Amino acid sequence: MKPYQNEKSSKKKQVEKMFDSISLEYDKLNRLISAGNDVKWRENIYKIANPLNPIDILDIATGTADIALELSKIKDSKVTGLDISEKMLDVGRQKVADRNLNDKVVLISGDAENLNFSKNSFDLISIGFGVRNFQNLEKGISESFRVLRNGGTLIILETSVPQNRFIKFFYLLFSRTFIPLVGSVFSKDKKAYKYLQKSAEEFPSGKKFGQILKSCGFNSVEILPLMLGASSIYIAKKN
Ligand SMILES: C[S@@+](CC[C@H](N)C(=O)[O-])C[C@H]1O[C@@H](n2cnc3c(N)ncnc32)[C@H](O)[C@@H]1O
Repeated sequence: MKPYQNEKSSKKKQVEKMFDSISLEYDKLNRLISAGNDVKWRENIYKIANPLNPIDILDIATGTADIALELSKIKDSKVTGLDISEKMLDVGRQKVADRNLNDKVVLISGDAENLNFSKNSFDLISIGFGVRNFQNLEKGISESFRVLRNGGTLIILETSVPQNRFIKFFYLLFSRTFIPLVGSVFSKDKKAYKYLQKSAEEFPSGKKFGQILKSCGFNSVEILPLMLGASSIYIAKKN
């Protein structure tokens, strides 16, 4: 699905426009919608990645760079954050500069579905809340597979829908009311929050996404549900 259903432009162009328009409020509203849990979820990525001792790290759909900053805590790591939204990157660049991390974290403009890197370039790739915004999910995942080194790991954090019917009922009640409400009260782009809620509901999460990762070449996929399944971390290995 696209953020602005009645516009003709591609999903990719609309996603870029949408994140440009909400870039300044993104961090605050993200915290509000997840009740602060998004911070812990990103820390989980660091906890999984750190023991793997990756040096060359790519954070795809880096946005305002929170995951890139987390991963820069790994000893000797060099982190490249990539995104299609220049305005999200601008917010991230300010955070990198504020923390004096310009020598460890570089943020660049780029498209997950056409990565400008040669094959086998990275030890670890992370994608947080990015994949459901891709125009072509399989193309984006296959590109990550291509630029990852043999033995490398792809860690994906994405929203998911709880499997338990009782929990799912309350999850849907909450997300269908609270997220659009936050958008209408705090943002001038209400459609963005409607899209963020609906795209989370429609994304093929859990085992279905695990299968997609395998179909793109990853040979083992571990799925870790977070907060009763409202989000999930996928750990996919290349060889
Ligand atoms: C919900 S934000 C997540 C940002 C960040 N990873 C985080 O954890 O907060 C999704 C990001 O994905 C980016 N994005 C969507 N499609 C992309 C693509 N094809 N290539 C690169 N970035 C993309 C958007 O511009 C946006 O900044």
